[in-house]
Amino acid sequence: MLNIAVFVSGGGTNLQAIIDGINNNQITNGVIKLVISNNSKAYALERAKKNNIKSLVFLKNDYDNINIYEKNIIENLEENFIDLIVLAGFTTILSKNFVKKYENKIINIHPSLIPSFCGDGFYGLNVHKAVLDRGVKITGATVHFVNEIVDGGDIIVQKAVEVFSNDTPESLQLRVMQEAEWSILIQAIDMICNNKFH
Ligand code: GRF
Repeated sequence: MLNIAVFVSGGGTNLQAIIDGINNNQITNGVIKLVISNNSKAYALERAKKNNIKSLVFLKNDYDNINIYEKNIIENLEENFIDLIVLAGFTTILSKNFVKKYENKIINIHPSLIPSFCGDGFYGLNVHKAVLDRGVKITGATVHFVNEIVDGGDIIVQKAVEVFSNDTPESLQLRVMQEAEWSILIQAIDMICNNKFH
């Protein structure tokens, strides 16, 4: 059984998908031990509370530098024997040291088909705006391992989503989540918990 920590910053729909996936056995051999947020107002924290999952808030501004910030997070990960870290909309870029320490143990959900529309500056609605500006007809989502390059780690699962001519960044963001993100995140976590990704 893998102990999972989910890192969040916002609404937490991806966290909810993981909770539901565990409850309905789409994810087996995994349990969420901890939710970590860098935003005290994140609705994801409510979702954790409703599901009796321990949550902790770490505000970057409360710490002198990223090393001390991450040291505090790591202490809590170790106390909770965390095996897998899922970045589900987490907006802080983790340091090289942190990523190295948890090599092959951190995954991220990104709302495009990597290597398109990814890397520095491509987060949140920016990704979907860029997709519409470029006029691509197919976008999607990717779950990948996290390494020292932003959105650069090995790809675990991807799913394509059609772009409609009347899409706005908001409508596209929602459809990418509904048609791709939630399902591939569940799929990737289940694969890792059951040793099916090599
Ligand atoms: C998602 O679009 C995810 O791909 C991106 O941030 C968003 C988080 O949404 N990295 P939520 O907080 O899970 O609802």
